[in-house]
Amino acid sequence: MRIVLLGAPGSGKGTQAALLKSRLNIAHISTGELLRAAVAAGTPLGLQAKVVMEKGNLVSDEVVLGMLEERLRLSDVASGFILDGYPRNEAQAQALDGLLERLQLPLDLVVQLDVPQDALLARLAGRAKAEGRADDSPAAVANRLAVYQQQTAPVLEYYERDGRLKRVVGEGSVDQILDRVLALM
Ligand code: AP5
Repeated sequence: MRIVLLGAPGSGKGTQAALLKSRLNIAHISTGELLRAAVAAGTPLGLQAKVVMEKGNLVSDEVVLGMLEERLRLSDVASGFILDGYPRNEAQAQALDGLLERLQLPLDLVVQLDVPQDALLARLAGRAKAEGRADDSPAAVANRLAVYQQQTAPVLEYYERDGRLKRVVGEGSVDQILDRVLALM
């Protein structure tokens, strides 16, 4: 199974991807996690990405695509993958189609976790208190949600145009949401 999981910040992409990973025994590829690992390691890419991420803006398409291609070439991808956090704009969606065609890894499912704004805000405020993620400050969250509306929402239309997009209600217990995603397979 090769799955793209779409949704706003706080919609539960990371939570559901972790469950799908263990249920389906496939790789979980989160571009946010890959970038946070680069930031933590203090690599040149990480130092560059840190400032952008803390403000809640998108890291450059070129940097993220290079990182993603490297990850997709690892052997564990042969059993399938869930892509979490990519694509985030229409150029990335086009680049992904091109990359997966070259790697001969066509997508099986594109799912959007649909969660209303007030629930997103409540979840991210909860995580800010519990974990203190650098981009969960109120200013960064506001910007991440605006960036999502402006740049990532068109990605939903991109997949809708050719009938690939499936929507799932992203509220309820994590197990209920997992069952909704699994029911699409
Ligand atoms: P990324 O790490 O992808 O963050 P995000 O999209 O903002 O998403 P979050 O991790 O905040 O939320 P999520 O949807 O994964 O939800 P989660 O399961 O964590 O990206 C971070 C940054 O990296 C970007 O802003 C950008 O700078 C950069 N970046 C990443 N990819 C990029 C790309 N492709 N191009 C350019 N830049 C890129 O859940 C959130 C909270 O809700 C948790 O506390 C969780 O426990 C809780 N929760 C989950 N499910 C439920 C539920 N059903 N009910 C109640 N609470 C729930």
